[in-house]
Amino acid sequence: MTAPLPGHTVSTLNALQPVLQVQNVSLEYRTAQRVVRATHEVSFEVDRSDRFVLLGPSGCGKSTLLKAVAGFIQPVAGSIQLDGNPVHEPGPDRIVVFQEFDQLPPWKTVKQNVMFPLLASRTLKRKEAEERALHYLDKVGLAAFAEAYPHTLSGGMKARVAIARALAMQPKILLMDEPFAALDALTRRKMQEELLELWEEVRFTLLFVTHSIEEALVVGNRILLLSPHPGRVRAEINSQRFDLHSLGGIDFQHSAQRIHRLLFDQDIAVGSADDLGFADVRIAY
Ligand SMILES: Nc1ncnc2c1ncn2[C@@H]1O[C@H](COP(=O)(O)OP(=O)(O)OP(=O)(O)O)[C@@H](O)[C@H]1O
Ligand SMILES: [Mg+2]
Repeated sequence: MTAPLPGHTVSTLNALQPVLQVQNVSLEYRTAQRVVRATHEVSFEVDRSDRFVLLGPSGCGKSTLLKAVAGFIQPVAGSIQLDGNPVHEPGPDRIVVFQEFDQLPPWKTVKQNVMFPLLASRTLKRKEAEERALHYLDKVGLAAFAEAYPHTLSGGMKARVAIARALAMQPKILLMDEPFAALDALTRRKMQEELLELWEEVRFTLLFVTHSIEEALVVGNRILLLSPHPGRVRAEINSQRFDLHSLGGIDFQHSAQRIHRLLFDQDIAVGSADDLGFADVRIAY
């Protein structure tokens, strides 16, 4: 699972060093009663401007992996490197967008919410922070709501504020944990579309967690499939050719079915990728 698959866009320009290298990472939770192994020897690499998706069933350790990349949890084995430097703690070069948008402090306006991490991390002075906040609010279509308070916004708008706040920090990698899961289906679709448009414009590097096969195919250019608990790498798929326009198409549906089989059919052996119809899949075990 080391060499990246061919066909991902900008990454080939900067192929020498991946932005993120996760090598044989095992993660555990220790409680007084027992030890829970969340992931087992997981490896993957994210290149610059990848939209890399972690896909797997509930409890397979996706959120735990994201927290480890963010630096909130240390691996019990393996290593995580960002631009070649080991990750030991949280830092402004990795920003997480979670599922709950009510994490926006309600007493701050939309603009103040976006400015806050820039000021708290001393990344920018107030004037520059304000300019940067307005720039990214404009990018997510919320320039007119800069002075509004979060409780006056819809779920989708709060999601946009959270994305603007994260992008304003210009992190090396943007980490998103099921960011649209709390939204209704239509708003979720719209947010996926907007995220892709934003990516076209900004070309940020994204690590995106979902347990929706459809969302993974739409959002990602590469998808890492994780087995059920504890999460191990099942396969990596190049999903570059799909976007929102592919939804409902035959190729898209077949791919979704094949991914379902890869995730849940433990009998699929190494080397059977051709049987599944993926020309560019790597099966890990
Ligand atoms: N704080 C914790 N203490 C103990 N065990 C935990 C803790 N958080 C998660 N786990 C366990 O670790 C495993 C992985 O959890 P994790 O939340 O990473 O899964 P996930 O893939 O994100 O699932 P979901 O799709 O439901 O969000 C699960 O078995 C879970 O029960
Ligand atoms: Mg989770």
